[in-house]
Amino acid sequence: ARQLLTMPEEVASLRAYDPRASAAELEAREREIVGAIDDAGISVVDGEIKWFGPWAERPKQADSGNVSVIEVDLATPGWVDCHTHAVFAGERADEFVMRNAGKPYVEILEAGGGILNSVDHLRRTPTRDLADLLVKRVFESVRVGVTALEIKSGYGLTVSDELKSLKAIKMAADMELPCELIPCFLGAHAVPREFRDRPDAYVDLVCNEMIPQVAEQKLAAYCDVFCDRGAFTVAQARRVLEAGKAHGLIPRIHADELTDAGAAQLAADIGASSADHLEFTPDSAIAAMAEAGVVGVLMPAVNLFLGTTGHLAPARKLLNAGCEVAVASDFNPGSAMTQDLGMMLTLACTLYKMTPAEALRSVTIGGAKALRRDDIGRIRVGHRANLTLLAAPSMSYVPYHFGTNHVAGVIQDGQFAYW
Ligand code: NIG
Ligand code: FE
Repeated sequence: ARQLLTMPEEVASLRAYDPRASAAELEAREREIVGAIDDAGISVVDGEIKWFGPWAERPKQADSGNVSVIEVDLATPGWVDCHTHAVFAGERADEFVMRNAGKPYVEILEAGGGILNSVDHLRRTPTRDLADLLVKRVFESVRVGVTALEIKSGYGLTVSDELKSLKAIKMAADMELPCELIPCFLGAHAVPREFRDRPDAYVDLVCNEMIPQVAEQKLAAYCDVFCDRGAFTVAQARRVLEAGKAHGLIPRIHADELTDAGAAQLAADIGASSADHLEFTPDSAIAAMAEAGVVGVLMPAVNLFLGTTGHLAPARKLLNAGCEVAVASDFNPGSAMTQDLGMMLTLACTLYKMTPAEALRSVTIGGAKALRRDDIGRIRVGHRANLTLLAAPSMSYVPYHFGTNHVAGVIQDGQFAYW
């Protein structure tokens, strides 16, 4: 590779971005953030990274006739899309039209539409069909560079339909797709219609029935909750995440997307691996997140798609506070109907004022940290060889030339997933 981005664990200079620094200083900072090696090589044996470094220092076997050498411009760890709702049925183009005519997302939700429309679709769809829909979507994610795709349940909202969603993910994962599928339980995504007047009874169902079965059947390692206006309160979210924790599920939170609901503070208090969205998170909660090591997962597609770019997540503040930031697609039929993680790099730069290196870090090691995974999202000897290969003259070029897929190839476990 003309350049290999390895993604170091910790980067001190992530905190200090001074746009007035000299071009050479900024360039040095960019390289440090991604651990760039120029004219680099990686050797992969049996799907595992055995060596990486400057090509000139390659091991001798690399020149023997028994190895195949692939040349690319840029190689990064396989991209991690750490927050999606990819297991859904039907679509909601009608709401897209309503919103553009002036009806806010939260009003559609509170009127019993939005998420609940997708719930109607999913309840009618058999597991097998859900899995088939998901598989097609997984290949689209691979095509845009993703090697690990987190997928939440949350459009079932009954014990059997939540389990069905997670089983559909498992069914797809068992097909040995060229992308790792990472299920996340989001039974507390919305209050279903049949519990409209007794949300606490629904929370009981999530805590007492769903979570134990999800954990028992090992259908997910994470428990998420939508804590916001129109969804669940902090008190309800705390109950759900505590119940998840008691069953060994790692807490994550849809936090402060629509209002300052106190959800990011809850993420810090409860020790969540991530707090996601954060459009309305106050400074005090950012400090608490940094202190508690909560990753901030930001999803600019939502703001682009809902037309709410006037109120964005505080990306720079999170980075300056010392938080790791992940950027994800939030792929879902309501608020972010896209799988294009490459486009998110552009939005991270233009809307959040992140640098290209920060953006690339956010879809690799950032996503991995949001999932508390130390075996993906970076280039390390001994790791499975998951790589995203880009055809671009520099790392800045990737977000710069937007609307184009720069992914030339994807390697999953040492095999070409896409080329
Ligand atoms: O992440 N915020 C809650 N959940 C999704 C939206 C789901 C939907 O509208 O279907 C989100 O934005
Ligand atoms: Fe989401």
